[in-house]
Amino acid sequence: MTDKPKRKAKADPAPEEPPDELVLPDVIPVIPSGTNVVYPQQLMPVMAIDERDKSAIDEAASSDGKLIGIFSQEDAAGDGEADGARLRQIGTVAAIVRMAKAPDGSVHAILQGRARVRLVAVVDQGPPLHARVEQLTDKNGKDLEAEAVMRDVAEAFVRAANLSDAMPTEIASVVGDITEPAALADFIAANLPLKPEDRYDILAELDIGRRLSNVHSLLIHELEVLEVRNKIQSDVKGELDKRQRDFILREQMKAIQKELGEETSPELSELKERLQKAELPENVQKEADREIERLSQIPAISPEYQVVRTYLEWLADLPWNATTEDQLDIAHAAKVLDEDHYGLDKVKRRILDFLAVLKLKGGETRGPILCFVGPPGTGKTSLGQSIARALGRKFIRVSLGGMRDEAEIRGHRRTYVGAMPGRIIQEIRRAGSANPLMMLDEIDKLGTDFRGDPASALLEVLDPAQNHTFTDHYLDTPFDLSRVFFIATANLPDTIPSPLLDRMEVIELPGYTEHEKLEIGRRYLLPRQLEQNGIPKGALRISEGAIRELIRSYTREAGVRNLERELGTVCRRIARLVAEGKQEQVSVTQDNVSDFLGPPRFRWELASERDEVGVAAGLAATSAGGDVLFVEATSVPGKGNLTLTGKLGDVMQESAQAALTYARSRAGVLGIAPAFFDRSDLHIHVPAGAVPKDGPSAGVTMATALISAITRRPVYKDVAMTGEITLRGKVLPVGAIRDKVLAAHRAGSKRVVLPRDNENDLHDVPDEVKRDLEFIFVEHVDEVLAAALHAEARDDRPRVEQLAVGS
Ligand SMILES: Nc1ncnc2c1ncn2[C@@H]1O[C@H](COP(=O)(O)OP(=O)(O)OP(=O)(O)O)[C@@H](O)[C@H]1O
Ligand SMILES: [Mg+2]
Repeated sequence: MTDKPKRKAKADPAPEEPPDELVLPDVIPVIPSGTNVVYPQQLMPVMAIDERDKSAIDEAASSDGKLIGIFSQEDAAGDGEADGARLRQIGTVAAIVRMAKAPDGSVHAILQGRARVRLVAVVDQGPPLHARVEQLTDKNGKDLEAEAVMRDVAEAFVRAANLSDAMPTEIASVVGDITEPAALADFIAANLPLKPEDRYDILAELDIGRRLSNVHSLLIHELEVLEVRNKIQSDVKGELDKRQRDFILREQMKAIQKELGEETSPELSELKERLQKAELPENVQKEADREIERLSQIPAISPEYQVVRTYLEWLADLPWNATTEDQLDIAHAAKVLDEDHYGLDKVKRRILDFLAVLKLKGGETRGPILCFVGPPGTGKTSLGQSIARALGRKFIRVSLGGMRDEAEIRGHRRTYVGAMPGRIIQEIRRAGSANPLMMLDEIDKLGTDFRGDPASALLEVLDPAQNHTFTDHYLDTPFDLSRVFFIATANLPDTIPSPLLDRMEVIELPGYTEHEKLEIGRRYLLPRQLEQNGIPKGALRISEGAIRELIRSYTREAGVRNLERELGTVCRRIARLVAEGKQEQVSVTQDNVSDFLGPPRFRWELASERDEVGVAAGLAATSAGGDVLFVEATSVPGKGNLTLTGKLGDVMQESAQAALTYARSRAGVLGIAPAFFDRSDLHIHVPAGAVPKDGPSAGVTMATALISAITRRPVYKDVAMTGEITLRGKVLPVGAIRDKVLAAHRAGSKRVVLPRDNENDLHDVPDEVKRDLEFIFVEHVDEVLAAALHAEARDDRPRVEQLAVGS
């Protein structure tokens, strides 16, 4: 610190200087500014923390001109001592415009550049640093060329300012006001994001023309960078912009179409019209409006267009409010039911009761769902059709047999390719009425698997508390099913899922007796077949005996479906004879039935010709109604093992074991040699081996066959039996007595052995059947044996076997 700074006026201000002329002392305090450069006119905030800078600002602030030198450095990271040495040659003299001291001791100041200065010498290292400086003057001021470049530069800068996020757009308007090329160059350099060297080079350039053109080329470069970046950004944004653009175009298009009076495509307006006519419920209408709106925005060639359109068509086609009017005249209904079906008095009565309730409740079907249970061909489906006819409702049928997928009932969500509503909604659409009679066939044959449980979906369909808001996955909006009259059908109640069974009122349609079949055949099936085959009146005379023969020898069923088919076959044969002109009138009698149908398929008598040892006729309930089931037993030399064959279920196997144990325990009374069981194996077989069988009701039959086989007492072939047995030989009651008795009657049995406790069930058996049969009610197996077995043994086995057992 040898020389103290002196103040000395300088008399030659730069020609471009603002009017208030700069009085520059020889020596001024200096702040090294790292890589920062300040241009004349530029404002720069400074925060001084260290002593060197603070003292420099202090000294300047207290001087007359408040002037301070700002010099950038070769290397910003220098230490205090070398500061002076590494200051760059050209710097700026700036005035302190404002200054404040913060409580933490730092000094904040705003400087404004005044003029370019050259560093003549560092006078002392300070603090503060003092330097001798000399003001510089710009060269080659205003000329035409500079003016032309100015315009280019100003334009380019405005473009750059618009492209760049870093520069405020207002800057662009300031540029227009600058008239001096030197000032313009400085202003732009100050506001462009330049590299430190470039910044310094602009400061150091005193030739105005060159400074401006340097700034120009830097600006052009910057502009290119900005343009490339913008392009990249807009590519990224492109997709978004395109959608926006499309949207705007579409809006415009709509406006144009509206202007032209053709707001929507004819297809769309037709769809709209259909939706209007469908009288959608409010919430559905909203959904429809949304989708219509969407549809109007999707190009018709897009696959989504079809999806949305199909959906809207479904909405339009469904009978949301279209219903048929119920005809609730009970007398009329009774007449229709009688017209279509013979007999079934009990069933018809219950249906009429049901209709009466429906009438009193004003057509509201809420309440139990009817479920018709009975063997095939007993008229369940056709009764449903009759009820629909009587009521004047549309009839639809959904077959549930083998349905495993919930989606079959409830549909697939629209997001699936090719999604469709479930069967319920499909059928409703087909019916075109919201209150049809819907028959849910084979509800006992519903399946379940990994695709969901259709039974639970069905529960929602059938539950009166839920079905007014049944939601199909595809429609995705509730449809009121409470107006539908549901009737389910099943062959057996056992496999109906119990939650479903709980909601239904079961009405049984047991099989028909021979007499009933005869009447049905004569009065209903034959006339229908004659008509269907176009046989002229009087061309066919078919005797009652012939129909009876058809029933007995060509069918064996609880219902009448095969009977109808056989009658159809006869009619077709006759149609041909008549058509060929061979005969004008044909008579079919009991004796010539086989001319039309071939040899008899079933023999009326029981299978065996004579009373056999080890074969007993049991009665079983199957899904086809009652049936006669023959149980065979035989003994062969062995060690007391029991073999069971014929696909017997667990319960049936257990009752076979029980039968055997009973036989062993009664060996003495039954006259069986004590050693018999040690030397013989027993085998029980139930023919029709491929059909699975189960249930306890074959207990008495197996005991009878087994004991017959052991004792060699033959079984009367005209005896049929059913009943469960206990180990001590008690006979317990079993189910489906009516079906079983009818089956025994069909098969030609004369005597039927039944558990005593089932005596009351005979009420259900038609009188004409009861007349033909003798019933033996039993409480104990001994009574069964007494009725079914011959008293005497008949031993016609090979001698070898006799010896083995007898000895
Ligand atoms: N009582 C009856 N009076 C007149 N025709 C009858 C009677 N019972 C059944 N039929 C006729 O028998 C045929 C078979 O009946 P339907 O198809 O209704 O049987 P189903 O009980 O539905 O059998 P499945 O369980 O196999 O579906 C029909 O043509 C039907 O009209
Ligand atoms: Mg049916």
